[in-house]
Amino acid sequence: MKVQVCIIGGGPSGLLLSQLLHLKGVDTIVLEKHSREYVLGRIRAGVLEHGFAALMREARSGERMDREGEIHEGFFISRDGVLSRVDLHKYSGGNSVIVYGQTEVTRDLYDARDRLKGAVEHNVEDVQIHDVKSDAPFVTYRRGDEIVRVDCDYVVGADGFHGVSRKSIPKEVLREYERIYPFGWLGVLSRTKPVSPELIYCKHERGFALCSMRSQVLSRYYIQVPLDDRVEDWSDESFWAELKRRLPEKVAGDLVTGPSIEKSIAPLRSFVAEPMRYGRLFLAGDAAHIVPPTGARGLNSAASDVYYLYHALIDHYQKSDDAGLDAYSQKGLARVWKAQRFSWWMTTLLHKFPENTPYENKLRETELDYLFSSEKALGSLAENYVGLPF
Ligand code: APR
Ligand code: PHB
Repeated sequence: MKVQVCIIGGGPSGLLLSQLLHLKGVDTIVLEKHSREYVLGRIRAGVLEHGFAALMREARSGERMDREGEIHEGFFISRDGVLSRVDLHKYSGGNSVIVYGQTEVTRDLYDARDRLKGAVEHNVEDVQIHDVKSDAPFVTYRRGDEIVRVDCDYVVGADGFHGVSRKSIPKEVLREYERIYPFGWLGVLSRTKPVSPELIYCKHERGFALCSMRSQVLSRYYIQVPLDDRVEDWSDESFWAELKRRLPEKVAGDLVTGPSIEKSIAPLRSFVAEPMRYGRLFLAGDAAHIVPPTGARGLNSAASDVYYLYHALIDHYQKSDDAGLDAYSQKGLARVWKAQRFSWWMTTLLHKFPENTPYENKLRETELDYLFSSEKALGSLAENYVGLPF
C-alpha cells in the first residue's frame, strides 16, 4: 500500500490531521492500535480553546461541538473557601473556551472520517517505523498473521505518550524533560446537574479540587489524592464527602451528588521530547508532550502541533515549499513550552505539595493575592487559558 502521509494513532491528533489533509487532497492512512469502542470509552478532559475549535470547524467536524458545547466566558478560583471569578472574556480581549468532552471531539472526528471514507485501520498490532532518514520511509504492522507494509512520503507519530513513534527515535538524538508530581487526580463522572454554571478550581489546605461538567446533566469532579491511593479505596460516599470539605460552604450545600458512572485516578506529569522531527518522522500531540490537566492544555497543545504540521505538509504538496516542515520542531516546541509553563504554574499555584515549606505556602498565597489584585496578571492567566495564538 502507498499513501502520502502515514499517521500512527487514532486519537484526536491523528484523526484531526488526517481529516484536514484529506480535505486538501492529501492521501493519508491512520493506524490505531485499539478498537473504536475502546478509544471512545476513554474519559478525557473537556475544555476546548478557540484555536482548537476553529481547526475542528475547518476540518468540517465542528457542527455538534458548536451546537452542544457550552461557551464559557469565565471560571472561578476558590481560595480556602472564598470564590473569585476570572473573567476570561474581559481579560483575554473577547475570547472564551468551549466546554465539550474530548471523547465527543474524537467521536465527531471518527464520524467525519467515515463521511469522507477516510482510511482508519483499527486493532493494528506491532506497528514499526522504517527508514525515516531515507527518502522512502515505510511502516509495517501486523493484522492477525499478515504483515502489512505502508510506503509513504512522511510518517506522523500521533500515538500518545505510550506509543511506538517517539521510541523509534535514537536515544542519542532524543532529549526528554520530565516532571512527575507527587499526587494524582481522582475523577468522578456523575449524571447530576453541575454545581456551578462555570468551572470552579479550588485551592484548599486538604488539597486541590475541581468542579467541571460535560453538559447540564453530566458533571465531572476531581480531587487531589496521594499517588498511592487506589480507586477501590474511594467509595462514592467518601469521594463526595471529601469534595464537599474542599468547596466553599455555599457550593458544598448546593452540590447534587449521585452514583459515579466513571471513577479513575490519573497521575500528573509534565513531559516534553525534543526534537519533534527525526528525518521524515514528525511527532504530534501526547507522543511528544504531556501536561498535568490543571490548565486544560492537553488537547490544545496537540492542536498547535496539528496546525503547524497541516500547514507545513500542504505547503510541501501544493507549493513544493519545505520551510514549514523544516521549522516544525522549533515552532512546535516554542508553543509547547509555553503550555508547559502555564500548566506547571496553575498546578503549582493550586495544589498542596507534601514537601512545601511554610515559606513556599506563603508565596503561593501571595501569588493568588497578586493575581486578583492585578488586571495585568489576570490578563496573563486569561490569554493562556483561552489559548495563545498558534
Ligand atoms: N500503534 C498504533 N496506535 C497506537 C500505538 C501504537 N503502537 N500506541 C498508541 N496508539 C494509539 C492509542 O490507542 C490512542 O488512541 O494512539 C492514540 C493516541 O491518542 P491520544 O493518547 O489521545 O493522544 P493524542 O491524539 O495526541 O491526543 C492528545 O489526549 O491524552 C490526551 O490530554 C491529552 O488532550 C490530549 C490529547
Ligand atoms: C474536565 O472537565 O475533565 C477538566 C476541565 C478542566 C481542567 C481539567 C479537566 O482543567
